[in-house]
Amino acid sequence: MKRLLLGLAAFALVLALPLPAFAGGGRQPDDLRELSHKLRMYIGSAVDVTALAEEADYRQVLNREFTHITAENAMKWESVEPQRGVYTWEGADAIVRNAQRNRQKVRGHTLVWHNQLPTWLTEGVADGSIDAKELRRILRDHIMTEAGRYRGKIRAWDVVNEVVDDEGNMRESIWLTHLGPGYIADAFRWAHQADPHAKLYINDYNLEWNTAKIDTTLAIVKDLKAKRVPIHGIGFQGHLGIQYDYPADFPAVMSRFTDLGLEAAITEADVRMVMPATPEKLATQADYYQRMLATCAANDRCVEFTVWGYTDRHSWVPGWFDGEGAANIMDENLAPKPAYNALLSVRRT
Ligand code: G3I
Repeated sequence: MKRLLLGLAAFALVLALPLPAFAGGGRQPDDLRELSHKLRMYIGSAVDVTALAEEADYRQVLNREFTHITAENAMKWESVEPQRGVYTWEGADAIVRNAQRNRQKVRGHTLVWHNQLPTWLTEGVADGSIDAKELRRILRDHIMTEAGRYRGKIRAWDVVNEVVDDEGNMRESIWLTHLGPGYIADAFRWAHQADPHAKLYINDYNLEWNTAKIDTTLAIVKDLKAKRVPIHGIGFQGHLGIQYDYPADFPAVMSRFTDLGLEAAITEADVRMVMPATPEKLATQADYYQRMLATCAANDRCVEFTVWGYTDRHSWVPGWFDGEGAANIMDENLAPKPAYNALLSVRRT
């Protein structure tokens, strides 16, 4: 009897299996949210706060497709404290609220960076009215205030962003110049104090392939771990371009970090191209996206794949790289591009 019931149950299961089957077995997910559940990892997007407020179609697709979000600019220091002591949390709050309503986790971006600092801070340091001692206090206050405000609401913080340059040196920034390299450990300790459950990341670009940057970043992580500094994750931004070879060593590079016990995330994926876009270029782009997601899916410690904006309607790329664009997985009308479909085909290996 038991065997008969088991047989019937198995038969019912087969009938319930959605069709059609496709290469790799199983039905292809309908959207990225379903893919996220299938892969048991978060699939995220950066959010443009103005588009979120003003464009219903943008909001609808964002909330349907993604299980994780990052504020593209709204949590950066110049956005949240444009004048000293004057906090403007509206944009960041709106993004966090929207995420909570839509069952999306949040990546906090970013607590310590050399860009998008408020002018009161950079000018104060430049004219000497803010000395090193005060600068350290200001940094601590900033981290405690921002990470404290969102305590319990942020899955992971990019605590320090882009602290190594492309030659593999510690980046010359107001932080390094005035506080010395110890600012990194301080930042992690303060962030942990402010939000003890958030995963704390070091995040960088070109880390998929640049050996000088990789080696220095590994050394920083090892040093922090040796000092028992609370660091939990490594963020690979993943800004690629199809005019460059795909960084084929990326899986091995990711393992070098996760072997140290860190979790990993691809935090800002996009794949730009020299315009105009052609079917061939879009196919190459799709392949690059697919390989990046597959790299994350193949590493048990890689928990999140986030795209730096999901639509070509809102992208930092054309403003930064002359003649380049079309870097995202949906076009200006929010229609899926080949890259979107390529992501849907990724399986855990
Ligand atoms: O908000 C001002 C607006 O008031 C002003 O009128 C307008 C005129 O230029 O500028 C607006 O600020 C822009 C800001 O984005 C907000 O839209 C800046 O000019 C523009 O430079 C800034 O660019 C951002 C860039 O970081 C700045 O560093 C991009 O949107 C953002 O995508 C990009 O994101 C970074 C990550 O944080 C870290 N990794 C690299 C990544 C790409 O550069």
